[in-house]
Amino acid sequence: MPISTTWRNLRKICNLHIFASQKLDANQNLRRNKVEQLIADVGDSSHIGESIEISTFAFKTTLNLISNIVFSIDYADSSSNTALEFREILLVIKESIRRRMAIHSKKMMNIFDKEIEKRSELRKMNDYIPAQDFLDSLLQISEDDNEELDRNLIKHLFFDLFTAGTDTTTTEVDIKIHNFVIPKGAQVLINAWAIGRDPNFWEEPELFSLERFIESEVDVKGTNFGLIPFGGGRRICPGLLLAIRMLPLMLGALIHSFDWELEGGVTPQSLNMDETYGLILQKAQPLKVIPRSI
Ligand code: HEM
Repeated sequence: MPISTTWRNLRKICNLHIFASQKLDANQNLRRNKVEQLIADVGDSSHIGESIEISTFAFKTTLNLISNIVFSIDYADSSSNTALEFREILLVIKESIRRRMAIHSKKMMNIFDKEIEKRSELRKMNDYIPAQDFLDSLLQISEDDNEELDRNLIKHLFFDLFTAGTDTTTTEVDIKIHNFVIPKGAQVLINAWAIGRDPNFWEEPELFSLERFIESEVDVKGTNFGLIPFGGGRRICPGLLLAIRMLPLMLGALIHSFDWELEGGVTPQSLNMDETYGLILQKAQPLKVIPRSI
């Protein structure tokens, strides 16, 4: 979505009703719950002693987290037809490239339509107990303002929340940087991957060394341009504060709860780190690891 009043309003609504510290604190139990479920699922697999694709487990955990924040539903666990369909669509969207997305995103929008419809009906009942989720907040806002919800807009917003949508930046005017002119309307892709591996900025950029950050002022919040996994400026990822709470929790719980082994003689050195490009950057060969109960 281009910079506009609508975009500004949507970001404001998200910041207020999902990503505000107070809201994130209130959802702490939800995150703990989902991580406990993750550890239990991995625990079940550890009894079998076979390798697991860690991304499948991470996908399930984050999907359940987001679907609970937005709809109070476990989309990843539920065996309802809607949940099954949703999972399939989301996986295709995450793996596919833009031109194949139209059909799948339409299917996803239909699911959102049904959820909005269902909730609107529920809210009309006398004994309705408000859900503490994003959908309820949105419907409440529209009732308070006495204004019909812009369904299309809200569905697009949900879509972006579930796909953690990143996009290209379009220039609004001609911009001159050093000797380059970027013409108005050009689509600019910021190559955060290359920036994070720039030897002019990083010592031994290819080396995985968390220690480099111990005495460093550099963080991921968008002010240090050498490290911008969440982008920066006014388009910075609005999910940043949620992500930096959830990611360490998931990773920490996985590391603390199990001993991990690579399968079939693979060593950290020989691990295939090739990448493949879908809507998001993924490993070409998913990481397979064997969890051993401690
Ligand atoms: C580790 C996790 C994540 C990473 C690395 C990430 C990264 C990014 C990046 C690079 C952008 C583009 C920023 C720019 O253009 O400058 C972005 C935008 C966005 N992200 Fe995230 N993100 C993450 C998690 C999330 C989560 C959990 C959500 C929502 C629940 C989310 C929702 C969004 C949305 C809606 C946008 C578009 C914002 C706009 O159009 O103004 N992201 N993200």
